[in-house]
Amino acid sequence: MLSYNLGSGENRNWVIAETEFNSSLLGKCETIMALGNGYMGVRSSTEESYVKQTRNLFVAGTFNRFDQTEPSELPNTADVTALEINLNGEQFSLDKGTIHRYYRYLHLKTGELVRVVDWESPKKERFELTFRRFISLKNLHLIGMRVDIKPLSEKANIQVTSGINGQMTNSGAQHFHEGEKRIFDKKFLQLIQTTTETNIDFVINATHRLKMNHEEIDLSPQMSLGRRRVDLQYSATVAKDKTYTVEKLSTVHTSRDSQIDSRSYDLEELRKLSLDGIQKARAVGYEQLFEESKSEWLKYWNQVDIQINSENEIDQLAVRFASYHLLIMTPHHDSRFGIGAKGLTGEGYKGHSFWDSEIFILPYFLYTKPEIARSLLEYRYHTIDGARKKAKDNGYDGAMYPWESAFTGEEETPLWAAVNILTGKATKVWSGIIEQHITADIAFAVWNYYTATQDVDFMNKYGSEILFETATFWASRVEWDDGKEQYIITDVVGPDEYKEHVDNNAFTNYLAHWTIQTAIRHYDECKTNRKNVFERLNDKLSLEEKYKKWKQAVDHIYLPVPRESDNLIPQDDTYLSKPIIDITKYKTDSAVQTILQDFSREQVIDMQVSKQADVVMLLYLLGDRFSDYVKKVNLDYYESRTIHDSSLSMAVHSIVAANVGDVKDAYEYFTKASLIDLGENMESSDAGVHAASLGGIWKAVVFGFAGIKLTSEVLMIKPNLPEQWNSITIPIYWRGDRLTVELTLNSIMIRNETGNNPSLPIEFNGTRFSLQDVIELRKVGKGI
Ligand code: BGC
Repeated sequence: MLSYNLGSGENRNWVIAETEFNSSLLGKCETIMALGNGYMGVRSSTEESYVKQTRNLFVAGTFNRFDQTEPSELPNTADVTALEINLNGEQFSLDKGTIHRYYRYLHLKTGELVRVVDWESPKKERFELTFRRFISLKNLHLIGMRVDIKPLSEKANIQVTSGINGQMTNSGAQHFHEGEKRIFDKKFLQLIQTTTETNIDFVINATHRLKMNHEEIDLSPQMSLGRRRVDLQYSATVAKDKTYTVEKLSTVHTSRDSQIDSRSYDLEELRKLSLDGIQKARAVGYEQLFEESKSEWLKYWNQVDIQINSENEIDQLAVRFASYHLLIMTPHHDSRFGIGAKGLTGEGYKGHSFWDSEIFILPYFLYTKPEIARSLLEYRYHTIDGARKKAKDNGYDGAMYPWESAFTGEEETPLWAAVNILTGKATKVWSGIIEQHITADIAFAVWNYYTATQDVDFMNKYGSEILFETATFWASRVEWDDGKEQYIITDVVGPDEYKEHVDNNAFTNYLAHWTIQTAIRHYDECKTNRKNVFERLNDKLSLEEKYKKWKQAVDHIYLPVPRESDNLIPQDDTYLSKPIIDITKYKTDSAVQTILQDFSREQVIDMQVSKQADVVMLLYLLGDRFSDYVKKVNLDYYESRTIHDSSLSMAVHSIVAANVGDVKDAYEYFTKASLIDLGENMESSDAGVHAASLGGIWKAVVFGFAGIKLTSEVLMIKPNLPEQWNSITIPIYWRGDRLTVELTLNSIMIRNETGNNPSLPIEFNGTRFSLQDVIELRKVGKGI
């Protein structure tokens, strides 16, 4: 059972907890309480084992393919979190005996996971066990664990077996060779395993420190090496009411780590470096290592924490929960890697990156830590050759980004997925073949980054090339239609994946057009102002020739405009003529995609039923092109046809609703988005967190309710706060300054905290102001 009220005083709204244990519903807390630091992520499985648990340790960017018929995935690395605890001959397991007290919580502020159990064994002996765990934000390779065990009835013989277990699989797929196991000085365990296809070495170390009543003790362990595993077993006799402590420190290194130069790589050196690291960590110990990590967390919160004073406290917690996970999912240390759709918290989507990264997650970093936004876009640059190959293989020019991307930028979308209820066969997944809007979404993110940061260096090195190559793709992708006398785009899947093989998906057409238009503008700017860059890219990409093609296409791309009769923007050529069905049942179901239990995908394709925001997504991304009236009409229409079967959907509806002043609805969508992972459905997050939706929660607050937008010239603000909120304080990083935006229902205060810019242009409801230190704007009455 989940509880969000455990934190009090300064811990209020920082703590997510469970207060009851249920061994058949473990997935939720394993996921939402997962730990990580962007380098690696570990699901918060309990130390003792249960049949229904899923132990995962993923290291960003270490993809491997089990065999040629399967996509690359992040391999489930050897586990270090399991501890087998034997208490006076009884295996510690909450499935037996009596639980007198139980709670477990993740402290979002410090990144520590704590579990307290008062357990009576079947032999009627009572023990108090306190487990603690963190993954360091300071030393990205380090995992710290600690268990304190106190016999409450009588003295006890306690055995703890702990090691490194390389028997892990990804739902049965084993990605590693057997490897090498070793114990050094009876203290340091080491397992070295290599991935089967990509030959990445993983070096995992573990060590223990033992204490009796807080005094260090030295016990000689029993050692064992098994198949793909290495363990130590410590036995101790512990007096009643005394505390026996086992600290376990583990490290993970791989040959894909950023500091490793692949040309001079030597496994022996990596082994030594990692052993050296674990020895140093051992000397420091859990407490101090945790404090070091905690202080990194505090620095982070200082930069990103949004404070919401709301009638519903979950609003505050939800935004912090989002910020917590957005950091631990993001490989901010290495621009060669992207963000998985489930972060590093589960096997879902195999660690692949989707448009989720650019459209849903990147804006968070752009407004709080732009250097990370840059790193995420560099990832797309590092994978551009894969995108070029995809374009070529499909008969197009330029770069065609994969719908699902891993390490190389080649297409990784699986070809087959869930059952077709009519045939009993697997349904074909078309996204990897025809969901092409991602190629525009990436260009869109590049440009947004550039406009907000004016990072010319980024554009010179990476961004311009991405923009030009994606425009070239679209110019080769559009098809001339003799009837319309325009370029059209046929046979795609738009954001709404319940429609396949559609022509002129509005979102795709508009974004393709936008990409070409923006590339033309940027080309002109480069040619005039950045001659060297222009020359280099012209040589590499034959830009002058490509430019002609962009110019030829740009003004003739068919853009479905709002219909004169009803102002509806057709989602595609046929959507509005399809039959309408009552979707209430599916909208209100706590499980997603239940419509596919009643209809096959082919049947759903022929109905006015949307999986997720599609036209509404367009209204959000290219909001300036549509009037509020058009937005309202389309939001109403498509909302009633959208099941929100993708977690990406609800937050987008919230933003558009807030922007047009439908704050009540916006708040309702926001609340639903907040509960996608935090809600009561104990199975909703089994495969991992919904990464994009977490970005969406932050966006709904900042872009929706606060109405903040950074353009190349100005920070615009047009708030529409829900009546449940008394005030909100938002930190924003812009042009080298940290700003604080404080909003109430009838006032705005913007403060420049760092003062690097003597003045910054702010636009409030259409009027320009200049921010020196502080601006305070007030309007009495309802709303600003
Ligand atoms: C959604 C996509 C999304 C993907 C990964 C799918 O269910 O329809 O829009 O990119 O999940 O989150």
